[in-house]
Amino acid sequence: MSDDDRELRVSKIRNGTVIDHITGGQALNVLAILGINGSSGEEVSVGMNVPSDRMKRKDIVKVEGRELSQNEVDVLSLIAPAATINIVRDYEVVEKHRVETPSEVVGVLSCPNHNCITTAQEPVESRFEVLDEGVRCVYCDTIIRQNIAEHIEVE
Ligand code: CTP
Ligand code: ZN
Repeated sequence: MSDDDRELRVSKIRNGTVIDHITGGQALNVLAILGINGSSGEEVSVGMNVPSDRMKRKDIVKVEGRELSQNEVDVLSLIAPAATINIVRDYEVVEKHRVETPSEVVGVLSCPNHNCITTAQEPVESRFEVLDEGVRCVYCDTIIRQNIAEHIEVE
């Protein structure tokens, strides 16, 4: 068995996206960010806490037939700042980039403060400033430190 065979945990995909180098333990949150719970029949492979050279343990998510939006990548960066996004076409990695943590995420997270102008029936898009340890609503200063994925706006 070659080294490659030994290392491969989940099979290669044909067309889609491999999100690699996810912070260990965050794969299920990555799936939440992508709105994947299996009920729509999406073809997804997940590896959790697998050994990695670059990180002690990493998670990996492979989604067949799907490329990610910039908004999705922005939120991913909040829980998996070292992640790499690999676009696969016809079994080859045709694009690879590291996620970048944006200074703000707009229209992606909903503010947990029910009195916030962004949660009233006003046409105000949510806007969060990204901090080292969480995100802050620029309208009401509410800080979300944990479980950021639970605050993703449902479309
Ligand atoms: N991959 C996959 N299906 C493919 C091609 C690649 O699932 N058809 C996966 C690989 O298993 C790997 C990731 O996509 O987890 C990136 O592939 P590649 O760039 O070939 O691997 P590395 O060079 O090891 O990536 P890196 O340098 O980013 O660690
Ligand atoms: Zn707010």
